[in-house]
Amino acid sequence: MNVGVFIPIGNNGWLLSSTAPQYKPTFELNKQIVQKAEAHGFDFALSMIKLRGFGGKTEFWDHNLESFTLMAGLAAVTTKIQLFATAASLVMPPAIVARMASTIDSISNGRFGLNLVTGWQRPEYSQMGLWPGDEFFATRYEYLAEYIQVLRDLWGSGRSDFKGRYFQMDDCRLSPRPSVPMKVICAGQSDAGVAFSARHADHNFIFGKGVNTPAAFAPSAAKIKTAADAAGRQVGAYVLFMVIADETDAAARAKWELYQAGADQEAIAWLGQQGAADTRSGADTNVRQMADPTSAVNINMGTLVGSYETVARLLDEVAEVPGCEGVLLTFDEFVQGVDTFGSRIQPLMKSRRHVAAAARPALEAA
Ligand SMILES: Cc1cc2nc3c(=O)[nH]c(=O)nc-3n(C[C@H](O)[C@H](O)[C@H](O)COP(=O)(O)O)c2cc1C
Repeated sequence: MNVGVFIPIGNNGWLLSSTAPQYKPTFELNKQIVQKAEAHGFDFALSMIKLRGFGGKTEFWDHNLESFTLMAGLAAVTTKIQLFATAASLVMPPAIVARMASTIDSISNGRFGLNLVTGWQRPEYSQMGLWPGDEFFATRYEYLAEYIQVLRDLWGSGRSDFKGRYFQMDDCRLSPRPSVPMKVICAGQSDAGVAFSARHADHNFIFGKGVNTPAAFAPSAAKIKTAADAAGRQVGAYVLFMVIADETDAAARAKWELYQAGADQEAIAWLGQQGAADTRSGADTNVRQMADPTSAVNINMGTLVGSYETVARLLDEVAEVPGCEGVLLTFDEFVQGVDTFGSRIQPLMKSRRHVAAAARPALEAA
């Protein structure tokens, strides 16, 4: 099973809580995290794009770096780990994104890939005067299908003459092209989003579900597998989890309870309003699920809480779910979290022992 880290490009990572670690996103912090992840044999690092925060007393995600420029910097200070940036497709024309991807491909020696999102939070774009209207909720994956066609044309042949509803290319050129086939990931969960990923993406990210219920995401993995099979393609699922680990189950559980007690209700209420604004994507968009009161403190992302042994066992259960190719991890405290994952959890995982053994000499030499 592959393992990636969802790096904290926004303040406080993924915990909307005043009792969780409070920090701002910086290049230095993310560099430390990604370099440690690389040393521990993590396969990839992904950063999201978020252009408007949720406010509240923790000013949740009011402070966010930009994804491509951050990943370009990280590409220059790493050598092995795969790096993914997220393109805000509504506000970044595909010809520019294709060229930025080529540039980071060059900086990273072929270690770069792209996460494509349609955007789901209107104020991110309306604040710039660039929200196309609420009908976009219904058409956003048609838009993204045209967008990726332009990207694929440019990366594949260096030219695009694509003429569609949203994009009209006129002998558009790209050179240099990426040195390796560009990997594209997506995180569609709605029917339209999953259909898009099945047809166009290399991998699809899905939300883990519940607390210490590692296989609860299985229906989402099956949904993407069925759609990809129908499209005659292979599109593996990568599952998003938060890891809260400590020496004992009780110590880890105490941290999780502390974070829940400090939940930033104002920020959570904002998230709920944003999710409710989309009435057109169908019931299965996970945007509404993120604000579910059960675990809105970490946007209901699926949480693994326990001792290092417990978390290793739970992650091995994740690895057994059909269609699952990997996990994307967040932590309550990222620097320490990546380190303890690498040194304490990974060596106990059947699905990662080979990676832990290979990473040991490099860590000992460091
Ligand atoms: C791992 C992961 C990363 C995501 N990154 C972003 C992001 O950077 N920006 C964004 O607007 N949405 C992001 N999303 C939201 C998805 O792109 C998608 O809109 C969401 O999962 C709902 O699915 P749907 O669009 O099919 O309704 C992310 C979701 C996941 C699971």
